[in-house]
Amino acid sequence: MLYLIGLGLSHESDITVRGLETVKKCKTVFLEAYTSILMAADKASLEKFYGREVILADRELVESGSDTILADAKDDDVAFLVVGDPFGATTHSDLIIRARELEIQVETIHNASVMNAVGACGLQLYQFGQTVSLVFFTDTWKPDSFYDKIMENRRIGLHTLVLLDIKVKEQSIENLARGRLVYEPPRYMSIETAASQLLEIEEIRNEKAYTPDTPCVAISRLGSPSQTFKAASLQELSNYKSGEPLHSLIVLGRRVHALELDYLDAYASDPKKFREDVVKDQEYFKPAPYVPPEEPLSD
Ligand SMILES: C[S@@+](CC[C@H](N)C(=O)[O-])C[C@H]1O[C@@H](n2cnc3c(N)ncnc32)[C@H](O)[C@@H]1O
Repeated sequence: MLYLIGLGLSHESDITVRGLETVKKCKTVFLEAYTSILMAADKASLEKFYGREVILADRELVESGSDTILADAKDDDVAFLVVGDPFGATTHSDLIIRARELEIQVETIHNASVMNAVGACGLQLYQFGQTVSLVFFTDTWKPDSFYDKIMENRRIGLHTLVLLDIKVKEQSIENLARGRLVYEPPRYMSIETAASQLLEIEEIRNEKAYTPDTPCVAISRLGSPSQTFKAASLQELSNYKSGEPLHSLIVLGRRVHALELDYLDAYASDPKKFREDVVKDQEYFKPAPYVPPEEPLSD
């Protein structure tokens, strides 16, 4: 059996009781180590907590070498640990499809994910549209497919959760060219970089999917002891010192409920200005007033 087990967001003890009991009985334990990190735990503390060896599984192992992970799962129990919830990243459906092809049984043990825990900032999960991912730009590569999705969400008044890039086991161009297996230190996108990249694309596209004044919420280290929320305009967040990773950004939609705003007051440096920005932003994508169809002319 292959067990996909969610670890929650921060501490080794965030695993569920059923998840922990399962890890303890598995022959092999892999930890997916490239889509997220446990902010208050590491490989050593997990091994101590589970009393088991933990094998770090990088992208290459999961995406190209999944046979290694699945090899034991045919006859023994294998645990594949994922920070957050296993379905909080799109990557892991693929592993399940390959397990099914090999007729390996799969069971998932869920946990909290950034996808639901963001509700802690006060914005209602029911008011979110498509989630988007933002990657680190380079001088020559600035993928902007997120822009159209934010536009679609905002057209119908919904908030957008923007997940930010994590780069682990990355090689510099020079090391890559020389075939040297030397990796750069891990990089986690900050709120400042995310807000600046969003503004850069708005400047290029200029279709007003959002503006520098669009109200946003910065989510930092959700579920950890130093969890922080900041409600401010996109422009303000481009100068915000967001601190240690992990971070996510929410671009507000027009349909902000009064209760959502009351909740966000606590996270704005200037609640009055934040509310003014929300009112100003509501002018974008405002539906045209309803005009009843003309009555057919009677004879
Ligand atoms: C690809 S997602 C993986 C989500 C994970 N499987 C889950 O269910 O929570 C990783 C991205 O989500 C966001 N994220 C994950 N955990 C977070 C946290 N605790 N606080 C803020 N953002 C978080 C970050 O932008 C991070 O780069």
